[in-house]
Amino acid sequence: MKFLKFKTLNSTNTWALDHFDELENLTAVCADSQTNGRGRFNRVWVSQDCGENICLSFVLKPENKKFLANLTQYLCVVTAKTLETYGVEPEIKWPNDVLVDGKKICGILCEAFLKHNAIKGVVLGIGVNLNMDKDLLKNIEKPATSLNIETGKKIDRDAFLNLLTEEFLKNYENAVEKGFASFERDYLQRINFLGKKVYLTQRDNAPKEEFFAQKIDENGSLVVKTADGLEKTVFSGDLIL
Ligand code: BTN
Repeated sequence: MKFLKFKTLNSTNTWALDHFDELENLTAVCADSQTNGRGRFNRVWVSQDCGENICLSFVLKPENKKFLANLTQYLCVVTAKTLETYGVEPEIKWPNDVLVDGKKICGILCEAFLKHNAIKGVVLGIGVNLNMDKDLLKNIEKPATSLNIETGKKIDRDAFLNLLTEEFLKNYENAVEKGFASFERDYLQRINFLGKKVYLTQRDNAPKEEFFAQKIDENGSLVVKTADGLEKTVFSGDLIL
């Protein structure tokens, strides 16, 4: 993994997409702070300007493009395993949020890079709250937490970054070649919503639909049951538990 470290970027994802052609496969673009951190559904990603949280984007250009869509789920597992080494018990909320104690600690934003209508690879961005202030967390719309709060200790960002990237590289080739099947067990062990009533949205403020979450299929998609008993496979969206 090659690391590019910046003090401030607008967004590590935006910067990596803007420089995608010049960047090597398996480059990690890291920033101490972002002025325009982005989340899924055009949400804002809030992080402190202190350089003590994880704001990073992996630039990935694998030969096999078939399983690119599963890499967010792969990174979820990697992050959960990394957090576990700090003694916390993370849960995965489909498709790609990691929660601790029911509160979000990590968000992942995967964006494809296209050229002449062909996918050249992805920028897989991740933000992890390592050393957030309680007060700042309170201002985030949805329940959020940070590793320092969960463990009661200041977290060494570089140590966390090394553990995360090591874990990422361990099974990355398998994830790229075999997709969800290669980390299915690790993913399923950590999910928190199966067998429950969930709401699903495709964007903020869109009507929420209520479903029964049945299973994750062999591709990593969510299979739900509608109120009238119909089975439906969902490929993307946001779950509200
Ligand atoms: C989400 O939960 O909706 C995804 C949040 C992703 C945040 C990370 S921080 C590093 C990278 N750069 C961004 O602008 N976003 C991602």
